Amino acid sequence: MKLSPDQIDIYDRDGFLVLENFVDGKDCDRLRARAAELVSDFDPQGVVSIFSTHEQTRTSDDYFLESGDKIRFFFEEHAFLPEGRLRQSKEQSINKIGHALHDLDPVFDTFSRAPEIKQMVSDLGIADPLLLQSMYIFKQPRIGGGVTCHQDATFLLTEPLRMIGLWFALEDATVENGCLWAMPGGHKLGLKSRFLRAEGGGTRFEVFDNTAWPEEDLRPLEVRKGTVIVLHGLLPHLSRENTSARSRHAYTLHIIDASARYPESNWLQRGPKMPLRGF
Ligand code: FE2
Repeated sequence: MKLSPDQIDIYDRDGFLVLENFVDGKDCDRLRARAAELVSDFDPQGVVSIFSTHEQTRTSDDYFLESGDKIRFFFEEHAFLPEGRLRQSKEQSINKIGHALHDLDPVFDTFSRAPEIKQMVSDLGIADPLLLQSMYIFKQPRIGGGVTCHQDATFLLTEPLRMIGLWFALEDATVENGCLWAMPGGHKLGLKSRFLRAEGGGTRFEVFDNTAWPEEDLRPLEVRKGTVIVLHGLLPHLSRENTSARSRHAYTLHIIDASARYPESNWLQRGPKMPLRGF
């Protein structure tokens, strides 16, 4: 299933490409079931304490910064009561799981290394792919947090820029439950900022252009379950809060080209025992 020249032209013009029915419904359900198992096996006690200690910023930074080669669980911003307990069940409190599901979990590994994905990435010019990062995003009913307008290259830069994001809809995504919004052609506006590991610990932003995004140019990408949205690394996009009663599960994968340099200042790093792998 090669991408057609027209599809590649659309990706180059808009900075994104929507491919319906890319994933079989049964495979979407398999990922959802596996994510539910991972959550069921997850003991939130230790992590809840990380997010509720006096040194919250430092310890939660470490939990995040060390997650590049692990399977870790991140909570919705409004998941905690003032005294640090969860407001509702862990199943309804987790925002996402990241960031090495694709290497550490057999179900996500198989899904992420499907031949169709390898072919698509190759068609889009990633000749020597490495699977960098995966996230399972829950976008919980009613409390699912929004993500402000950003470019993925802010967080995962390569030099030169050879990185694409894949966003798999595991459920129908609509304006009501917080679908993606993208700015057609916005990938030609240049990189606005970088998110870096700070010297001495933690993270910081380096801003190149502090003008606001023309958010009136964003378009909602309402898609059916099984659709993949391919995102150029420089494409401005966001997702709004989910205030509906339905969840909006999605799985995302970021793939880079081994020929490009991956800076040590990028927040996401791996230990020497778990180098990045391709397909
Ligand atoms: Fe993103």
